[in-house]
Amino acid sequence: KKKVNILRLREMKQQGRKITMVTAYDYAMMTQVDKADIDLVLVGDSAAMTMLGYEGTVPVDMDTMLIFNQAVSRGGKHTFLVGDMPFMSYEVSIEKAVENAGRIMKEGFMDAVKLEGGERMANTVAAIVRAGIPVMGHIGLTPQSAAQLGGFSVQGKNIDGAKQIVKDAIALENAGVFAIVLEAIPSAVAKIITAKVQVPTIGIGAGPYCDGQVLVIHDLLGLFDRFTPKFVKRYAALGEEMQKALNTFAGEVRRGEFPAREHTFTMLEENEERLIA
Ligand code: KIV
Ligand code: NA
Repeated sequence: KKKVNILRLREMKQQGRKITMVTAYDYAMMTQVDKADIDLVLVGDSAAMTMLGYEGTVPVDMDTMLIFNQAVSRGGKHTFLVGDMPFMSYEVSIEKAVENAGRIMKEGFMDAVKLEGGERMANTVAAIVRAGIPVMGHIGLTPQSAAQLGGFSVQGKNIDGAKQIVKDAIALENAGVFAIVLEAIPSAVAKIITAKVQVPTIGIGAGPYCDGQVLVIHDLLGLFDRFTPKFVKRYAALGEEMQKALNTFAGEVRRGEFPAREHTFTMLEENEERLIA
């Protein structure tokens, strides 16, 4: 597997080759993704929900994200790794944003960072890019500002909203992003943006016209039982597999079937006899 870079991603868009991205948060999961035919990994702040059990992404902080970044980087040698900037790590000031983006690169060993917001974040994105750090944008439904949006709902269904999202995409491209995540917007809006910008668009709940698609790995594998949005497709039922394995183990232990001979250490018979004597 050959690791992609930001030039290759742009080339893939031009050639009409779809880009694939999933999230990952830990070493074991990342080693699986690294062997699979996946172009990009996002260490998403969705870790707040999938790994830490919070209701949304707001509570997770820089130090916690860095731990996820480091674990993923140790298992992801052949995949381009994007580190999500957590809520309040880039909004307070441009200096703080650049500093925290730098930490995600230097301490988290990521290849790029991602942050939420379009026009309103363009100056911040430009400053991080000027520092030499590749930035992925994220517009449409931006979970970190769910409270301000009035919940986790589809964005850009009305004309004004749709026009703003197109403006956001153009502002991000001008600010120097290498790709843009489009979350929970009508497919017609995603189609227009994908045609208008030179950088790849990566959709989640944004329809089939994006240059690539991303899903949260726990959703894709069937490991997350809580609320599942309309745009998620389950490609496996690993939660059910885990239940089967755990209950089989428990049953075998209770029936005295595990551990068997092949899982058990022995000692020389004479030593065993002397031990008993
Ligand atoms: O944190 C995350 O998982 C994300 C993706 C849904 C794009 O931002
Ligand atoms: Na995120």
